[in-house]
Amino acid sequence: MIRAPKGTKDIIGEESSQWQWIEQILRNLGKDFGYQEIRTPMFEQTELFARGVGETTDIVQKEMYTFEDKKNRSMTLKPEGTAGAVRAYLENKLYADTQPTKLYYLTPAFRYEKPQAGRFRQFHQFGVELFGSAHPMADAEVISLGYQMLERCGLRNIEVHINSLGDRESRAEYHQVLSAFLEEHQQSLCPTCQQRMIRNPLRVLDCKEDSCQTIVRQAPKLLDYLNEADRQHFEAVLDLLNQLAIPYKINPWIVRGLDYYSRTVFEFISQDIGAQSTICGGGRYDHLIEEMGGNSTPAIGFAAGIERLLMVLGNTGCLPVVANQPRLYIGYRGDRAMQQALRLTHQLRQAHVRVVTDLFAKSVKAQMKYANRIQADYAIIIGDDELQQGQVSLKEMTTGETQELTFDQLVAFFTS
Ligand code: HAM
Repeated sequence: MIRAPKGTKDIIGEESSQWQWIEQILRNLGKDFGYQEIRTPMFEQTELFARGVGETTDIVQKEMYTFEDKKNRSMTLKPEGTAGAVRAYLENKLYADTQPTKLYYLTPAFRYEKPQAGRFRQFHQFGVELFGSAHPMADAEVISLGYQMLERCGLRNIEVHINSLGDRESRAEYHQVLSAFLEEHQQSLCPTCQQRMIRNPLRVLDCKEDSCQTIVRQAPKLLDYLNEADRQHFEAVLDLLNQLAIPYKINPWIVRGLDYYSRTVFEFISQDIGAQSTICGGGRYDHLIEEMGGNSTPAIGFAAGIERLLMVLGNTGCLPVVANQPRLYIGYRGDRAMQQALRLTHQLRQAHVRVVTDLFAKSVKAQMKYANRIQADYAIIIGDDELQQGQVSLKEMTTGETQELTFDQLVAFFTS
């Protein structure tokens, strides 16, 4: 038996209805905030992610699905949506349109991670990217979009954790201080962090190893090294969040796992999911567009994991029961009745009524059993008598009540 690859899953039945439900909420949210949908390819040149996401990140070093195509070009399945959106912004010259450019996407993403609850190798992201504004209003809009996303899904118990990574100048100073601190504690760091310390000391702050966490807690905080401009930007963002009554917690240890961030970074964390508690994360990346070959253009965005969102919604009883059951089951007895059943089914479907009929020429008893199983609201059985009299008995399945209707009345019952 061939099985689905580890870390992937089929989405079927009830679950698929829940996906449609949440996708609808997310698309409406994007629309309401004035964001346009963007669909970028599932694979890109490997270099895009290596440069975009950052050579020292876990994603690029360990987690990418990279392969050579038939002409020996290195390609990679997208591990996230931002790098592709930036490439598309530049390639399609979206910067030439009225700014800002505001994009949203719903996309599969691929990371070779160890699967566990809420962590997959193929997962799905809803993300937004806002290009062109460096103003704190842009930060506030993107964070409030994330907050409304969770509100519209019915989630409570959400914390917005926010931090500032500063811009280049603040970062340069902090790097020196942090490197000096980490050198003092080098012996106690995990082997990977001993490497990280040299290549990108900020990555050490993100290490999940207990030994590193203990040291990190005593490390100097980036927030204390922000220059005046970065501090003012951060305070302005917090002030706008206060205006919106969005509760936040300043968390100086949020550094995010991708290299492109500067200034504001944030995560939405749920208490209801366990180990993989981050539903959504993002921040400013004011230098990425320039690094990818464009003009200097500020940007901010976030992405949420849809599997994680659905998991939290499931754990908190917030998932809706989506009513997909047929309105009417049309059964029949005999060949002439079969033809009438087919015509009637067709007519009602043209009027957008959810109707099901029998596809096996089963016995009437078996057909009624089936109508019950699929939880149809109503059922009729057409036989010779019904054809002759031109009327059927419409049965309401939950109460068992029936009413006699002509075929025209039946159509009117479901369509008017
Ligand atoms: P990220 O934090 O790497 O950021 O991923 C965003 C979200 O994707 C996570 O919070 C999580 O919900 C979900 N996610 C990540 N990896 C997995 C996985 N293996 N299985 C299930 N869900 C996962 C980004 O990807 C950035 N591009 C976000 C961004 C957009 N920043 C600015 N713009």
